[in-house]
Amino acid sequence: MSEQLCLYRFSLPTIETKRLILRPVKRSDARDLFSYAKDPQVSEHVLWEAHRSLSDSRSFIRSIKRQYRQGFPGSFAIVLRSSQRMIGTIGFMSIHPDYHSAEIGYSLSREYWNCGYMTEALSEVLDYAFRVLQLNRVEAQHELSNPASGRVMEKCGMRFEGILRQRIRNKGKYADVKLYAVLRQDYIKGK
Ligand SMILES: CC(C)(COP(=O)(O)OP(=O)(O)OC[C@H]1O[C@@H](n2cnc3c(N)ncnc32)[C@H](O)[C@@H]1OP(=O)(O)O)[C@@H](O)C(=O)NCCC(=O)NCCS
Repeated sequence: MSEQLCLYRFSLPTIETKRLILRPVKRSDARDLFSYAKDPQVSEHVLWEAHRSLSDSRSFIRSIKRQYRQGFPGSFAIVLRSSQRMIGTIGFMSIHPDYHSAEIGYSLSREYWNCGYMTEALSEVLDYAFRVLQLNRVEAQHELSNPASGRVMEKCGMRFEGILRQRIRNKGKYADVKLYAVLRQDYIKGK
């Protein structure tokens, strides 16, 4: 039997990039989260519904903090260094200690799209996944109708592996997704 990675002892660190801070989500992020998570264009291609009230944002944060308490390396808050505003989240949607693999997901306030922020965040989270968590494979998927997300994956060195038909059911509809992944060996070679 293969050696299982002990992924449940990690608590998320704070990571600084050129323009961003990636840090654990805090209760006080609720207002910033609500200001973008209420936007139906932000939630269109993710599996959560647009937040209808601040209380939806508070319960979203509580569910992330519950994962931290269970020792699961869940989602980072993405904070803009210049304003200290929380403008998105990125993190591990699922993790497979037996296979040394994980799936990453993310979302960003529409105000900040197309400025390279998610590419900056994903590249740091991949670094964390391979160097600290010692994962072997990291995957991400996006709906065919959300090509900007695929572009972020490509820019971070993830490789397109195929289309999974009706893999998910989102907002009442089945959706085809494109699967991307990067292996540790390729990631380390590319650095
Ligand atoms: C998808 C998302 C994370 C992208 O974040 P971002 O910070 O805008 O991404 P970046 O600026 O780093 O890169 C976006 C890239 O997509 C490209 N792009 C934007 N719209 C596009 C479109 N309709 N078709 C193809 N490419 C597109 C941009 O030009 C850019 O590529 P480039 O640098 O080669 O020009 C952001 O739009 C978002 O949060 N959307 C809502 C939530 C979501 O969809 N999450 C992902 C679920 S899989």
